Amino acid sequence: MLNITFLGHSCFTLDDDKHKVIIDPFLSGNPLAQVKPEDVKVNAILLTHGHGDHLGDAIEIAKANNATIVAPFELAMHCQAQDCIVHPMHIGGSHDFEFGRVTLTIAHHGSGLPDDKGNIAYLGNPCGFVLRMDNKSVYHAGDTGLFYDMKLIGELYPLDLALLPIGSNFTMGIMEALKAVELLSPKMVIPMHYNTFDVIEQNPQDFVSRLPGAVEGKILEVGQSHELP
Ligand code: NI
Ligand code: MN
Repeated sequence: MLNITFLGHSCFTLDDDKHKVIIDPFLSGNPLAQVKPEDVKVNAILLTHGHGDHLGDAIEIAKANNATIVAPFELAMHCQAQDCIVHPMHIGGSHDFEFGRVTLTIAHHGSGLPDDKGNIAYLGNPCGFVLRMDNKSVYHAGDTGLFYDMKLIGELYPLDLALLPIGSNFTMGIMEALKAVELLSPKMVIPMHYNTFDVIEQNPQDFVSRLPGAVEGKILEVGQSHELP
């Protein structure tokens, strides 16, 4: 059984009783987050890109848990320079970890991290993840616009669940995410990356109610979990 918990924005934990991973742990700066970084207990941290609302509290959580950060090479090096254990990967590659198999997919977005003077450290390409854990395939799209290769992702890694941004402005909006569902053809979809800030305000019900009949839509409240049987 794979348990998935929404911690707000694009942050989820996946937990199969033996292992627990967290994706994009943006907690301390997130006005909607309920969990504090010091309360997170995980084996690994997956990062889609270097923006503050995804890198989030990754460094602190990694150190507190002796957890490995899995990220695109440049972002992994940024974390390694801050004394974290890292496993760098890149787009198209897969690796078997103790907790499961990770594949990096493309994402159309940025990954630069500005310092307090506005100088930007470019942390390589952003990515999405296909995570195989407990015989389930879960796609976390990261931050991305719609792209037609989502069809390949759905064909190569038949998806039990897709986690898709719907907030628009920085990523796909609802109309594009509905097309993404058509291309990916997952069994279930959970929307993310909306309502954290005014500029990404969306009604997730509007997304879920327009899904094709074969795809189950699930809106998770912050803190809510869903079990994939
Ligand atoms: Ni971003
Ligand atoms: Mn973002």
